[in-house]
Amino acid sequence: ATEIVELAPPSQVGADGAAATRLLTVLFASETGNSKTLAKALVEKAAAQGIQARLADMAEYKTRGLKDEQDLLVITSTHGEGDAPQTAVGFFEFLESRKAPKLPQLRYAVLALGDSTYEKYCEAGKRVDRRLEELGAQRLADRVDCDVDYEDAADAWIASVVTKLAPAAQAPASAPGASAATMRSGAPSPATFDKKNPFQAAVIDNIVLTGRGSTKETRHIELSLADSGLTYQPGDALGVVPRNDPALVEAILEKLSLSADAPVTVKQGTISLGEALSGTFEITALTPRFLDLWSELTGSDELQALRAPDQKEARAAFQHNYHILDVIGRFPAPGIDAARLVAGLRPLQPRLYSIASSLAAAPDEAHLTVSTVRYTLHDLPRTGVASGYLAARTEADATVPVYIQSNDHFHLPDDDVPILMIGAGTGVAPYRAFMQEREASGASGRSWLFFGERNFRSDFLYQVEWQELLKNGVLSRLDLAFSRDAAPKTYVQDRLRRQGRDVYAWLEEGAYVYVCGDSAHMAPDVHAALTEIVAEHGGLDREEAGAYLSALQRDRRYRLDVY
Ligand code: 2AM
Repeated sequence: ATEIVELAPPSQVGADGAAATRLLTVLFASETGNSKTLAKALVEKAAAQGIQARLADMAEYKTRGLKDEQDLLVITSTHGEGDAPQTAVGFFEFLESRKAPKLPQLRYAVLALGDSTYEKYCEAGKRVDRRLEELGAQRLADRVDCDVDYEDAADAWIASVVTKLAPAAQAPASAPGASAATMRSGAPSPATFDKKNPFQAAVIDNIVLTGRGSTKETRHIELSLADSGLTYQPGDALGVVPRNDPALVEAILEKLSLSADAPVTVKQGTISLGEALSGTFEITALTPRFLDLWSELTGSDELQALRAPDQKEARAAFQHNYHILDVIGRFPAPGIDAARLVAGLRPLQPRLYSIASSLAAAPDEAHLTVSTVRYTLHDLPRTGVASGYLAARTEADATVPVYIQSNDHFHLPDDDVPILMIGAGTGVAPYRAFMQEREASGASGRSWLFFGERNFRSDFLYQVEWQELLKNGVLSRLDLAFSRDAAPKTYVQDRLRRQGRDVYAWLEEGAYVYVCGDSAHMAPDVHAALTEIVAEHGGLDREEAGAYLSALQRDRRYRLDVY
């Protein structure tokens, strides 16, 4: 439901009423919660300025209300290849369709969140910005595109749009009353741990789940949340604040002949270059910012050429093959100092992992299922930033800095509702949390798991637990797809198809569908399989079957947690 956060009392809205009674809607689309957090902050700031503001999630927004909006501020992240966040697909479809109304009455502005290592940077925000203009709305402020370190740019955008919207004359008079009302309406946020101030969780256990001969190294990691006050729901994620691989830090310092002790000034103060490269900045993937810096420093024609707007493909290929370390190695920049180097780096970001446990079964703990990313590039072994960091935290006294990232879109339904859980690889993690929760609560709803991995012998993650859950009836059905045990490959979607009749029956009985795992291939393939199943067993054509699934998505009975 749309949350009305703050309404300034009419008497304080303005003497003549008319202009001041405009309503502001702050509409957000969030994948991991960042847009939502910013949208909430924006509503509070606006309310404190006496602006009537309400918060709305695109996932639930009634699009027919668009033509009645007056001021609309949109905050959206981008998913995958320039897509809208999963929960906002319906809104985007409507907005970009011919059904969207003309919006001459509307004033708007867009804040776009994204990741500049992706080609389609901030594309979802760009799409909304472009489309609202096409529909005749007036842009209140230029769109701002923010990278993963979005905080400062987002704060500046929020401050500027609030200033633009605040009726100047009334702001000082109404501010105190309005902010008092805000304090009453919104619960004061308790001091807790977050990405800037993570909790040091002790590592209770860190074991390799995959067996001998596996092509993967997938770990089960148990972390203690004791004395943190942190709580979570099954479906939520744990933010992990990693540190870079010491070997990579060393290699970069050596290639540049820089000392780890060289002082550098960063946002947090003056620290050593070694610490900055270890804990403050991303030093793995090549970003446009680093490419810019390095092409200027070295004057390399090759790097220069890659910056041209029409070189997207070449740039993507180059980024794939050349990480920061490799660029430094191949294009020497003699005499570079520590300050120049860090100016080309962006802040190290936390990584999110679906929590694989329930507090009902493991009080004060959060479990993770993590596949260690290991690869070789230019003959040098490398690891994924966070998975490599976690894999190395095996000492007895190891800790990991963490916080909780709630993921409302992936929570369990009521106890009596049947659930279909589809997960490939580590995508099975939240389902372990679901089953622990349902076992503890004695939930009556049926549960059906589709799990896929490579080899039965080595990769059947949590095999004993699933078998136990089947035996005690918490898990009603289990279908497995081991892709590399036999040719041709079998994936979870093949198992879904094989069980199509029953899958459709479950949907008709009100089951919720959860999909967790790879976003690039698995989730679209599963979607295609579900479409076929609904078409075949529901007697619908492709388009109708697609609409059936869109309706499920709108009703929030079809949920994705994909990465
Ligand atoms: P593969 O590696 O043998 O191709 C977890 O990674 C499991 O997901 C593996 O069995 C993997 O198979 C499988 N997988 C890979 N691509 C997939 C896709 N498009 N849809 C479903 N599962 C996929």
